[in-house]
Amino acid sequence: MTSEIITTEFYKKYSESGESPRIFFSPGRVNLIGEHTDYNGGYVFPCALTYGTYMAARISSTKTIKFASLNFDFTIEIPLSELHNKVGNEWVNYPLGVFNEFKKTGVDPDRGIELLFSGDIPNGAGLSSSASIETVTGFFINKVFGNDKLNLEELALLCQRAENKFIGVNCGIMDQFAVSVGKKDHAIFLNCDTLDHELVPLKLDGLKLVISNTNKKRQLADSKYNERRGECEQAVKYLNKVKKVKNLGELSLDEFNEISAHIPDEVIRKRALHVVSEDQRCVEAVDALKKGDMVRFGVLMNESHDSLRDDYEVTGTELDILVEEARNIKGVLGSRMTGAGFGGCTVSLVREEAVDIFIEKTGKKYEQRTGLKPDFYVADVGDGVKEIQ
Ligand code: GLA
Repeated sequence: MTSEIITTEFYKKYSESGESPRIFFSPGRVNLIGEHTDYNGGYVFPCALTYGTYMAARISSTKTIKFASLNFDFTIEIPLSELHNKVGNEWVNYPLGVFNEFKKTGVDPDRGIELLFSGDIPNGAGLSSSASIETVTGFFINKVFGNDKLNLEELALLCQRAENKFIGVNCGIMDQFAVSVGKKDHAIFLNCDTLDHELVPLKLDGLKLVISNTNKKRQLADSKYNERRGECEQAVKYLNKVKKVKNLGELSLDEFNEISAHIPDEVIRKRALHVVSEDQRCVEAVDALKKGDMVRFGVLMNESHDSLRDDYEVTGTELDILVEEARNIKGVLGSRMTGAGFGGCTVSLVREEAVDIFIEKTGKKYEQRTGLKPDFYVADVGDGVKEIQ
């Protein structure tokens, strides 16, 4: 997708007369390590992709907002006064949730708008297509109606609230933050408790990040996700009987091991162990990257997946097979699931010269074992949300 193509499509949907639309873009993201730690006040290490959501927008003379997408047939025109109701299970709820949150901050469009969205992130693959559409909408509202009153971090928090409250998915801050703040060829080392963050150069000399999509439809992902959050809260409650902590991210692995016996429920103890150990792996991985030790980085990626599989139990057969087959290929330094899990994508660190073989062999083996055809993307790390023209 380019801004020329979306502009041409915009004119096909809406009239050619009048001003030309402004074009905005927000990326998707891939998380390199630090999974299911964000809502526990821990560390994450995601980066923005060059894939994402484009949005063409033009102020109109009607008192309505028109929503259309090149990805979905559903279109709708909503009067400004009725902007704050949900529309079934439609994609427009993502932008609507953002309009709704802006209204609460006193920013409410007083003129009509024509909007056309177009995304090239596979939906439901765990690469943050929802954070991407929320953030591109939010960036536009902030700029055009909000006088740029929110900075990028505040924008991320507003979009997270839209997802939590309007969509009903109790996600953490990682996705919206990564797609807002991301920078080309950098990953974001984010403390999700304080939002302190550092943009770390992704020195991948001779290596590629390959994203592999299981193409397994994510089932019950939202309810399972919320269930895991509940289990972590329960772990904190048990631990609070012996040590005052606000969330699991405050504990080092040693501290946790000392008191973990106070969690009587074995399942909850395993969930907490994942979070605390993953947090430590994330810090170590950033350190390894800074030292140029990508072999160590890969080992930590592998350990991350194994912990998500055995202790957090959010992987499932397809993700496990894809990771297993990836690790059998010479030149793969590490491979793990990325995002919420329960289907979706893996991310692998692969030596450049092994990428073609990786795609061919892993693809074949995965298909033989699951009957599903995977997709592969060699990831380019891009910038966060922006206006293109
Ligand atoms: C989803 C959520 C994020 C994060 C990841 C798991 O992507 O939106 O907030 O919790 O899952 O790390």
